[in-house]
Amino acid sequence: MSEGPSKALSPSVLEKIEVEALKYPVRRAAVKSALRYAQAEQGWVNDDVVRAVAQVLNLEPIEVFEVATFYDMFYTQPVGRHPIRVCTNVSCLLRGAGGVVDALCKTLAVGVGETSADGRFTILEAECLGACGGAPMMSVGNDYHENLEPEKLESILEQYK
Ligand code: FES
Repeated sequence: MSEGPSKALSPSVLEKIEVEALKYPVRRAAVKSALRYAQAEQGWVNDDVVRAVAQVLNLEPIEVFEVATFYDMFYTQPVGRHPIRVCTNVSCLLRGAGGVVDALCKTLAVGVGETSADGRFTILEAECLGACGGAPMMSVGNDYHENLEPEKLESILEQYK
């Protein structure tokens, strides 16, 4: 017997998805919002979430998976409570993003793509996050931190428990 979507998605997330789906002429248009709600609650988009979102929006799981893997703001592997996305695109790279990545890795004692031992942070590289004027920059969860210098990183990380 197959699991219903409520097994992978909470009633609250299901309700949000339904509200979102009503905004569009086709239910599939709500797929990014559905993934965003599910990820906000569960931390990442696992296979059960993909299947549940597909069922709720009348899609094939592969169609949901394609969206989840196309946008790098969706995490299809477990991440720390506060994913760090360091922009390593041109503007940030020219203004020292490499040093920021190195300092983060050293401070957290992990490599890019890895999660700190305390489960707080995962370091990820990202393409342009649209804040080139504040290069080099990174996001921590939904927060942007700009004009980074390696020496500033520890005090920034201390804000996140
Ligand atoms: S290049 Fe880094 S935010 Fe645009």
